[in-house]
Amino acid sequence: MRALLCKDYGGIDALVVDETPSPALKPGEVRVQVEACGVNFPDTLIVAGKYQFKPEPPFSPGGEISGIVVELGEGVEDVAVGDAVIAITIWGGFAEEIAVPAAQLLKRPPSMDPRVAAGFSMTYGTAMHALVQRADLQAGETLLVLGAAGGVGLAAVEIGKRLGARVIAAASSADKLAVAAEAGADEGVNYAETGLKDAVKDLTGGKGVDVVFDPVGGELTEQALRATGWRGRHLIVGFAAGEIPKIPANLTLLKGCAVVGVFWGDFVKREPDANRANFDRLFGWAETGAIKPLISETFTLETASDALRKLAARQALGKLVVDLAKG
Ligand SMILES: NC(=O)c1ccc[n+]([C@@H]2O[C@H](COP(=O)([O-])OP(=O)(O)OC[C@H]3O[C@@H](n4cnc5c(N)ncnc54)[C@H](OP(=O)(O)O)[C@@H]3O)[C@@H](O)[C@H]2O)c1
Repeated sequence: MRALLCKDYGGIDALVVDETPSPALKPGEVRVQVEACGVNFPDTLIVAGKYQFKPEPPFSPGGEISGIVVELGEGVEDVAVGDAVIAITIWGGFAEEIAVPAAQLLKRPPSMDPRVAAGFSMTYGTAMHALVQRADLQAGETLLVLGAAGGVGLAAVEIGKRLGARVIAAASSADKLAVAAEAGADEGVNYAETGLKDAVKDLTGGKGVDVVFDPVGGELTEQALRATGWRGRHLIVGFAAGEIPKIPANLTLLKGCAVVGVFWGDFVKREPDANRANFDRLFGWAETGAIKPLISETFTLETASDALRKLAARQALGKLVVDLAKG
């Protein structure tokens, strides 16, 4: 099969498309013919050996896929050859075939396009878990989303609206804020031009927000925490800016607020029933058009490295997807 391969931890520029054997099936696994693979920030880290998982090279990056089951491993039940599925794979998705534990599969809703399905689970799964289980976001509360036109950020904007919150989108350009507004954000703050804390305080009449969704980190984290109100919840989702911030602990005391970690990957393993319930709701919203995942660009296996470069250069809007059917 053909695959985008990381032959050493040389980063995006060292990736090559090459022939490689289709992975052997272990008991409990199924072989999936990959239709499409979502592009995510961790893909840029894993190929540089900077992610929490360090697969032995050669390996393919690619953390989430949609595809068709083509072979069942020993002991697999409840899955059939021909099933259309979605899977979180962490790596291995930028390839024509992948072996996935059957227990990790979700059935793809029949009406969902395979490219949309490929880019759905990581972003919406993370944002849903963050806002529902970790923040307990309530209708009528105010939600501030940083990196609001990025993958998880844009999903948080849409889910925040569905849960009845007032959503303030924050991003680094007018184009990105327009994308967030299109997804339902009520207001926008361009933090490349305006101080985040003061702008958010102005928008909330000095009260501050109830919940912050923060996949960016760096110096924005403290500004957003300072713009959090009494009993607020600041969700630590990721560090796309590259810097893990240090937080002045006195701010949490003064605001009676909480800084709350979000680790969707472990939630899926530790609380599979709650995760499935989240996806039942998400698929229902997608089915009725209440959420509309934005795939801004598709790539082929040959151009998949360009997708990773674009994401790393902060140029992606919504989701980028590699379409294996395209070549
Ligand atoms: N905790 C979890 O369970 C979990 C799950 C999935 C993803 N994540 C994490 O969430 C973060 C976002 O992932 P994603 O796939 O949504 O990424 P993405 O689509 O690239 O979005 C990240 C956003 O961060 C902002 N950003 C600020 N500085 C940046 C920089 N130097 N380089 C790139 N982006 C920068 C950008 O928005 P502006 O230009 O508007 O600032 C960008 O839109 C990553 O750190 C990822 O590891 C965590």
